[in-house]
Amino acid sequence: MAEKPEPGISNWYIRKSARDSAPVDLSGQVAVITGASGGVGRCTALLLAEAGAKVCLGARRLEQLQTVVEEIRAKGGQAIAVQTDVAKRAEVKNLVAQAEKELGPVDILVNNAALWYFTMMTSLHEDDWDRMVDVNCKGLLNGIGAVLTGMVARKKGHIVNISSDSGLKGFTGVSVYCGTKFFVEGVTQSMRQELAKHNVKVTTIQPGYVALDGPERPQKDKEAYELCSPPADMEVLQPENIASAVLYAVTQPSFVAVNQMLVQPVAQPL
Ligand SMILES: NC(=O)c1ccc[n+]([C@@H]2O[C@H](COP(=O)([O-])OP(=O)(O)OC[C@H]3O[C@@H](n4cnc5c(N)ncnc54)[C@H](OP(=O)(O)O)[C@@H]3O)[C@@H](O)[C@H]2O)c1
Repeated sequence: MAEKPEPGISNWYIRKSARDSAPVDLSGQVAVITGASGGVGRCTALLLAEAGAKVCLGARRLEQLQTVVEEIRAKGGQAIAVQTDVAKRAEVKNLVAQAEKELGPVDILVNNAALWYFTMMTSLHEDDWDRMVDVNCKGLLNGIGAVLTGMVARKKGHIVNISSDSGLKGFTGVSVYCGTKFFVEGVTQSMRQELAKHNVKVTTIQPGYVALDGPERPQKDKEAYELCSPPADMEVLQPENIASAVLYAVTQPSFVAVNQMLVQPVAQPL
């Protein structure tokens, strides 16, 4: 005799979740992480590898990437490093090709590499504007372009774009950076509509202030720098907090899409 359906949505949900839930286990999956030589990218690579993913790390500083690879291998994980400038499309194609050759088809891409210059618009630092667009916008597209055909063909994939709270609101002193992160948001929202039918998930994660791994990046615009720096007594996020958000997004059951996550210091909500 067929089992009687149990009344109540919560029962249905609990049973369905239990059936579809995967543990935090990425065994057998391949993840490519850009900007993995430090900060959020490095932590994300470490955490995904700890969850069992085979990880391919891209950034410009090969020596730093290799240190991260060694950290992962020392814990029994599988990782490779490929020197990559995300602003150069051929180098990003090569990053993904190396991942596929050495680790297997790419299941997860974390588009994390980005840079920012604090600059008032009136300072007209136009070369810095160009560089932010090249890395944060074109670099993101280069990542997407390198994995999308394979993900669609396999009907499986997850692209995680690291955006910013500056992708949701404009802040004085970082107008162009905000513009690049609004771009990330726009592309992500739109492509999510298109890719759902191909079973490719697309997530944006919007960090607030994250403690820097190493010294503050050189900033030539003092006024903008002062406007944009967190107050000295504010407890800012650690890169691990964003890596955990990535891990959460990529380990949900197949029917759950974590489309965006705004993660900020408690002291500074939008
Ligand atoms: N820190 C924050 O307060 C904050 C806040 C909101 C959002 N975010 C976002 O979080 C992400 C990570 O930031 P983070 O704090 O970890 O910054 P970070 O410590 O400066 O790390 C940035 C990473 O991007 C890489 N990178 C820069 N230009 C690159 C290029 N042309 N090609 C390849 N890799 C490049 C750097 O590696 P190489 O120098 O070796 O290339 C580095 O590994 C970024 O998308 C950022 O916009 C950060």
